[in-house]
Amino acid sequence: MRYLYLFLALVTGVAGVAAQVELRRQGTAVQLTVDGRPWTVLGGELGNSTASSAEAIREVMPRLRMMNLNTVLVPVYWDMTEPREGEYDFTLIDATLEAARANDLKVILLWFGAWKNSMSCYAPLWFKENYRKYPRAMTAQGKPLEIASVFSDDVYRADLRALQAWASHLAAADTAHTALMIQIENEIGMLENARDHSAAADRAYRAGVPRELTVHLRKHREELHPRLRERWESRGSRMEGSWEDVFGAGDETDEYFMAWYYANYAGRLGAEAKRLTGLPVYVNAALNSRGRRPGEYPSAGPLAHLKDIWHAAAPAIDMLSPDIYDSGFRGWTAQYHTADNPLFIPEIRREAANGAQAYYVLGEHDAIGISPFSVENSPTSPHYATTRGYAALRELQPLIAAHQGRGTMRGVYLDADSTELVIADEGLRITVSHYFTLPWDPRARDGSPWPAAGGVIIRLAPDEYIVAGTGLVVKFEDPAEVSAARALGEDGFAAAGGAAGAESRWQSKSRVGLGPVRAVRVEPDGSLTELRRYNGDETHQGRHVRIGVDDFETLHVKLYRYK
Ligand code: DGJ
Repeated sequence: MRYLYLFLALVTGVAGVAAQVELRRQGTAVQLTVDGRPWTVLGGELGNSTASSAEAIREVMPRLRMMNLNTVLVPVYWDMTEPREGEYDFTLIDATLEAARANDLKVILLWFGAWKNSMSCYAPLWFKENYRKYPRAMTAQGKPLEIASVFSDDVYRADLRALQAWASHLAAADTAHTALMIQIENEIGMLENARDHSAAADRAYRAGVPRELTVHLRKHREELHPRLRERWESRGSRMEGSWEDVFGAGDETDEYFMAWYYANYAGRLGAEAKRLTGLPVYVNAALNSRGRRPGEYPSAGPLAHLKDIWHAAAPAIDMLSPDIYDSGFRGWTAQYHTADNPLFIPEIRREAANGAQAYYVLGEHDAIGISPFSVENSPTSPHYATTRGYAALRELQPLIAAHQGRGTMRGVYLDADSTELVIADEGLRITVSHYFTLPWDPRARDGSPWPAAGGVIIRLAPDEYIVAGTGLVVKFEDPAEVSAARALGEDGFAAAGGAAGAESRWQSKSRVGLGPVRAVRVEPDGSLTELRRYNGDETHQGRHVRIGVDDFETLHVKLYRYK
């Protein structure tokens, strides 16, 4: 275990030297750090209208603290920040900082500026009414949309001025570093058509592909999204030309064009937010999880298939982040965790599975954090699974932070459709199964819904592991051993008629057994305090370790070998 403590000392021992909030690399991971210490966002985002009165902000924060959040994502509304052109009101930002501090919470501020879910509904009325100065995006048929046109410098300047005003105020007011990050706009994207067809947009389209984009594509050819790479290479990897020359005709190319301009705009705003506050900045995406065409979903946002265009046009943006509402949780997280993009999930559908999902993304994808949307509407019971999961993760945080990016941790997420994960790890086969795969748990087959199971498996040292999470059964075996196929009852008896032919074929040199299995508490310095020993029935007489679907626990497991 000693080397682990050394890790922790390295990770946590730099306070004082470091700048306040920054992203730092640790191995292959990028971590958010506060005064030099990793900060895992166990977050929640407020519903859109909750932060519109100081009273409501003060009312909601203590509840979020009780849910064991450590970070709240709070909108900053342009219309309420600049009700009259050039006149600013920071009441809501001040109330947010004060209420967060009073409840020991950090905040991430979301700039609902020119765009919120594609639309410009949070722009102030003086801006909306002055559509000649602040023009709208147009459909191909010339219909104006309630979407400010990204091709207008006046739109950009108005948005920028407002952001500069509140970001400067934040920099001066937030000496306690309550704010951790800034989100630029919210779910940017064009609707109805893949691109804006206003006169200014058409002019930009006719100007052709900016050379910075093709230079970026050439430089990062190997990491490009396969679809973008194929479209570019199939036309000869051209370095210049019209959008159609370089990428072909069609709405995919229209989306690339639009993404370049949205990203360029958001990148310039992001650079300014960073310059004024020193905080990391990110953008969030409405995913095309329903297989639609660009424009049927918000076209050109920071989507995984457009990551290269966003990176090229917006180098100041630290992360492209997915808002995950539909199916495909594991797939989306994998698409947004790439060598050039750390994973942060600013929005995910609020549900009891969020605790299990948090373990998975922190362990498997070295995520910076996760944040269910409209979190204040969660059940208030202390038994709510997300509340309990967050409590357990707060305690586990020193170990997770120490192991991210080091190749010593895996995350697991299992449900009724995906019941088992097999991990090959340094001379071991580790089989992690959903708790309901135990043949004696009646809930597995009586129609009960399978609660989400999730956790992390951390190798502390050879043959020494942390198993943490909920709803898991974990077996450790020599990889050469062929597992017995037969099901054993809780008492260890083989299922009737299941014995012959189902015997293990013995071909291994040694077997793996369980040493002490301990439920532990993780102390802030990463050391472990034993809470109780598990053996006998609780380890199936030494065959596995497990955590029930109704529990969140951290187990410390030592293994041994015998012949
Ligand atoms: C995603 C948006 O980013 C949120 O602000 C909210 O509108 C949710 N969708 C849906 O309620």
